[in-house]
Amino acid sequence: MNLRNLEILENVTHSRTIVCLGQMLRYIRPYKSRAILAIIFCCISSSMDALIAWSLKAYTDFVIVDKVIYAVWIVPLVIVTFAVVQGTLSYFATYLNAWVSWKISNDMKSKLYEKLLTFPASYFDNCNSGDVIFRFNRDVDAASNGVLAKLKTAVSRTTSSMALICVLMCNSWKLAIIAIITFGASFIPISKIRKKMQDAMDKTVAADSKLLSIYHESYVGNKTVAAYNLAKYQAEKLRNVLTNVFRLNMKITQKSSWLSPTMHVIVAIGAGISIAYGSHLIVTHQITSGNFVSFIVALVALYNPIKNIGSSFKEFRSSLMAIGRIRGILSANSTLKERGNAQVLDGLRSDITFDDVRFEYKTGFPVLKGVSMSVKKGETIAIVGSSGGGKTTLVNLLPRLYDATSGSISIDGVNIKNYTLTSLRANIAVVFQDDFLFTGTIRDNIVVGKHNATDDDILKAVKIANLEEFISSLSDGIDTEVGERGVLLSGGQKQRISIARAAIKDAPIIILDEATSALDNQLESAVQNALDNVMTDKTVFIIAHRLSTILCADKIAVINDGMLAELGSHDELMRARDGKYRALYDMQFKEDNWP
Ligand SMILES: Nc1ncnc2c1ncn2[C@@H]1O[C@H](COP(=O)(O)OP(=O)(O)O)[C@@H](O)[C@H]1O
Ligand SMILES: [Mg+2]
Repeated sequence: MNLRNLEILENVTHSRTIVCLGQMLRYIRPYKSRAILAIIFCCISSSMDALIAWSLKAYTDFVIVDKVIYAVWIVPLVIVTFAVVQGTLSYFATYLNAWVSWKISNDMKSKLYEKLLTFPASYFDNCNSGDVIFRFNRDVDAASNGVLAKLKTAVSRTTSSMALICVLMCNSWKLAIIAIITFGASFIPISKIRKKMQDAMDKTVAADSKLLSIYHESYVGNKTVAAYNLAKYQAEKLRNVLTNVFRLNMKITQKSSWLSPTMHVIVAIGAGISIAYGSHLIVTHQITSGNFVSFIVALVALYNPIKNIGSSFKEFRSSLMAIGRIRGILSANSTLKERGNAQVLDGLRSDITFDDVRFEYKTGFPVLKGVSMSVKKGETIAIVGSSGGGKTTLVNLLPRLYDATSGSISIDGVNIKNYTLTSLRANIAVVFQDDFLFTGTIRDNIVVGKHNATDDDILKAVKIANLEEFISSLSDGIDTEVGERGVLLSGGQKQRISIARAAIKDAPIIILDEATSALDNQLESAVQNALDNVMTDKTVFIIAHRLSTILCADKIAVINDGMLAELGSHDELMRARDGKYRALYDMQFKEDNWP
């Protein structure tokens, strides 16, 4: 994970419990009436335990001690009635709680996903798929379901405890004080382990997302894994991560699991003291037997929720941490910012200018070292040069997939950062070097270039990309599924679909990054001819390896090692005796004429 991603996660670990809960409340707000209703149901049903405990005083004193016959039926009746009411309320509370949880979970997921799509390409370059699945999906489930469920438990336990404490107080304040002090003391260990667990839990998340990445890698790269006999190697990699996950989880367990037993012991001591002292109070006639029975029942009822606090604590903590991470992502600045008064780019009027453009993916490692050039409207500029020289990087700066580290790119004299991102990108059609196809049909993949495309538009694009013959050979034609990432197609077929997608967009600026590299010579020249027709009134950046495809360009820029080595027309550049372009051209010419 690189620096920027760490930055995004940085404020996460420092998020305070209160802040996290506050964050949660913001999500609950739209559904507050249902959430409040759930809590009210919860409070009523949980305070009923105390009423039952309280009624036992009267029962013991009247029935057991004084033998009053009519009182016999009252307690059983109260117990059954309360159980029915309690059960009903608890059902509605659970239902409402789940409803609110899922709503919040969906809200969070769509908000996170929207945020994810605003992140610059560098974010995706540097995080793995596991990170994304974990942070944008699983964390949300942990956060919304976990916290809300625990909140419900906490509320019901608190109300139930308060009511039970009232019962204790009413029966004997002296006994109640002893019980409350010991129960209070049992909370001390919780505050001790909070910090210790945080670190281990953060590490578990990192390890878990690595695990997901390995699965994803084996899926996407299954052919490479098979061809290079990597099964053992991959399995070993997985085992190492699993071992790490095991170690971290055991550490968490080791740190958290002594909580419950410790609290258990403290509480048991308290209960022991209360019973001993209670017996003394009965014998000395300071309280009735009814008081004592009711007290003990209330004490036992109180004991359960408190005993379980230790185990719920771990889950509650991890939910809160998930919220913290979500908050971190949502509050992260995506480096691609739109200026407040950004204008809308509506077509190209005069030119595109690169002014001393420098760029580095990693600080201290310049990839573009000051490129300056200008392209007039309607011109086709070819960019050639050695592999790894920075051609793709240069054209990627135009739709702001990345922002230049320094220098500027202007369209019609206005820095591209002053245009709205959407309008800037709407004016540029790109065919990437390794373009991406979505799961769906060929038609789906073409119309992403223009959502309201007519059948005519599609047909035209299909013609330009020379796809007609291929499509007519398929039984489902243009509605044939391409598989995930287009796996069911050949490289050349995928590339032609990408070209059709760009052609249908009909944008004034076109970027073709080795767009025909996967086609054979014959197909390439056919596609190139069709593209030439489309390109007549467009401004085109064409990166090509085979120089034969760029002979029609108005200008040729040679980019070597991040610098503009030469710029001029084919004829001009060929005239330079020791020119780089001429050298490239001569080399390919020789290759092509190899017997
Ligand atoms: N996403 C990336 N993160 C870091 N370095 C990159 C990335 N993409 C390309 N590079 C590096 O930038 C340099 C230029 O790459 P690129 O623009 O793709 O070259 P070209 O298209 O001319 O072959 C190469 O050294 C490459 O390793
Ligand atoms: Mg490239």
